[in-house]
Amino acid sequence: MTPFTAVLRFASPVLKASVSKQPFSHFKPRNYKTITTLFTATRKMSSSAVAQRLSRKTVLITGASSGIGRSTAVEFVKTAPDIRLILTARRQDQLELLKAELRLLSADVDILVEQLDVSDPQDVKRFWDALPKEQWKDKLDILVNNAGLVKGVEHVGDITEEDIHIMYATNVTGLINMTQAAVAIFKAKNSGTIVNIGSIAGREPYPGGSIYCSTKAAVRAFTESLRKELINTRIRVSVVDPGQVETEFSLVRFRGDQAKADSVYAGVEPLTGDDIAEIVVFIAGRRDNVVIADALVFPSHQGGTSHMYRK
Ligand SMILES: NC(=O)c1ccc[n+]([C@@H]2O[C@H](COP(=O)([O-])OP(=O)(O)OC[C@H]3O[C@@H](n4cnc5c(N)ncnc54)[C@H](OP(=O)(O)O)[C@@H]3O)[C@@H](O)[C@H]2O)c1
Repeated sequence: MTPFTAVLRFASPVLKASVSKQPFSHFKPRNYKTITTLFTATRKMSSSAVAQRLSRKTVLITGASSGIGRSTAVEFVKTAPDIRLILTARRQDQLELLKAELRLLSADVDILVEQLDVSDPQDVKRFWDALPKEQWKDKLDILVNNAGLVKGVEHVGDITEEDIHIMYATNVTGLINMTQAAVAIFKAKNSGTIVNIGSIAGREPYPGGSIYCSTKAAVRAFTESLRKELINTRIRVSVVDPGQVETEFSLVRFRGDQAKADSVYAGVEPLTGDDIAEIVVFIAGRRDNVVIADALVFPSHQGGTSHMYRK
C-alpha cells in the first residue's frame, strides 16, 4: 500500500462521518484539519527525496536574469515547489519577469528579487547589509555563484583595460566577495552548499580567451582551496564547468553582434541553460554528506574548448 492509499483509507471514514451523518452546521472542522494535515504529510511523503531535501531551503543565485542562472531558478522551483529564492542580477526588470513566471509554477515559492552588481564590492556589501537578517540572511542554505561574462576575443597586447577589469571584477572578485559573506553565515550553522559556475575554459585555455580563461582557472583554484579549508565542516563546495551552452554569453562576448554570436553555434547542438541547471539542482539536492566536488559538462559534439564536431 502506498502512503497515499493509506491516508485515503484513513481519511475516507472520517470524511464520510462528517459529511453524511451530520447537518452542514455540525461539520467538525477538527476532522477536516486532520485530513488536510494528513494530505499535506502524504504529499511530502510521495514527493521525491530531492524535493524533500530542498523543501523550504533558501537559495541565492547570482546572474539569475538570463541563461544558466535563470534556468537554475526555474529548475529549483520545479524540483521543490516550496523553495525560497533570492534572485540577483543587474537587470531588475528581467528578474521581476522571472519572479512572475515562477509564481505561476508554484504558489508556495518565496521569492526575493534584489538588483546586485557583483563586480562592485560596495554594491556587494550594500546587498548583504540590506538583506533581511532573520527572514533571508540567516536562513541562507545554498549559494549559486553563476554571474559571469566574457568580453571580446582580442589577443594579449590588444585587450582593453576595461575588459580585463570587468571580467576579473565579475568572475573572480565578485564570486569571492559573495562567497566570503555566505561562508560566514554557513560556518555559524555548520551547513550550507556553494556551487560555483566555472568553465571548460578554466581547464583548457584557448587563444583569444586569455583573460576569461584565467578568471575561470581562478574560480577553479579558489573553489578547491575553499573545499579543503572547510573539510572539518558540513559545508559543501562544488564547481560546475560547462562546455558550450547557448545563452546570452556569446552575444555579450561579441558586444551585441547577433550574427557573430550565432556563428559560435553553427553546425552544432550546444547545451541549454536548463541542462546545466539540472546539474546544479542535482548537486544541491544530494544528501548532505555527498559532495559532488567537480562536474565537467559537454554537449555530445564537444571534446574540449576547441575540439568540436561540426556538421
Ligand atoms: N554559455 C556558455 O557557453 C558558458 C560556458 C561555460 C561557463 N559559462 C558560465 O556560466 C555563467 C552564466 O553564463 P550564461 O552562459 O548563462 O550567460 P548569460 O546568459 O550572459 O548570463 C550571465 C548572467 O550573469 C549576470 N551578470 C553579468 N555580470 C554581472 C554583474 N556584474 N553582476 C551581477 N550579475 C551579472 C547577467 O545578468 P545582468 O546582465 O542582468 O547583470 C546574467 O544573468 C557564467 O559564469 C559563464 O562564465 C557559460
